[in-house]
Amino acid sequence: MVMKKIIIANWKANPDNARHAAVLAAAVERQAARYRTLEIVAAPPFPFLAAVGAKLRNARLGSQDIFWDGGAWTGAVSAAQLKSLGVSHAIIGHSERRMHMGETDAMVQKKLRAALGAGLAAVLCVGERERQDGGMDAAVGDQVGSALQGLSRRHARQLVIAYEPVWAISTAAGNAGADTPDHAFRARLYIEKTIASVFGARGAAGVRVIYGGSVTAENAPAFLRDGRMDGLLVGRASLDAKKIGAVIRSAAEVARR
Ligand code: PGA
Repeated sequence: MVMKKIIIANWKANPDNARHAAVLAAAVERQAARYRTLEIVAAPPFPFLAAVGAKLRNARLGSQDIFWDGGAWTGAVSAAQLKSLGVSHAIIGHSERRMHMGETDAMVQKKLRAALGAGLAAVLCVGERERQDGGMDAAVGDQVGSALQGLSRRHARQLVIAYEPVWAISTAAGNAGADTPDHAFRARLYIEKTIASVFGARGAAGVRVIYGGSVTAENAPAFLRDGRMDGLLVGRASLDAKKIGAVIRSAAEVARR
């Protein structure tokens, strides 16, 4: 079975109002209707899920986080609640949550189980904080290994792993610009090896590994082609209808070949 390349628009805490969110959503939907060879996901902030979901038919709806339970957890949002709004994908363990909101590997693991258990596609974010010359940072393997602990191979197809080197995220302090496709490819191999140690090689082949960090329409094709990425997680460029449209078009070009 051929896995579609996946493009995820991570809007973070943007935009400021539902009207603007609906305009952005309509732009994403237009591209999704046009490029069906891609799986396209819009991940707005929680308050706009319903308004954005109402605009999507071909594009999928994603959340930027999930909580592992329902009930007496003030401020939390459960898998059941997300599903009731039509959410199909949940981003989990984004570096901004790990760094600024105290999210630990143990919390990430619980959230991942909750998402997979509810039948959602889980987009697990991992990445090293500092740029390193040479080898891969063991932190990436640790993040993947710890999150997947105890999961079974049958979850592989629901899982997407987003390699997002923290230093390459556009809004990171001291942002060093996007990674190189070559380094991202090495990260991919390293992540695959870690997944294979949990799911076996066949299970690992069902997990999509994608890249995030200062993705633009200009660098997207190289990450997909030379970096052998199965998709892209797009932050800043996804807040501009023209820019996310261009990213999707350039990805569709690669997917066609
Ligand atoms: P960026 O964000 O594209 O603005 O670098 C990516 C992300 O943080 O998911």
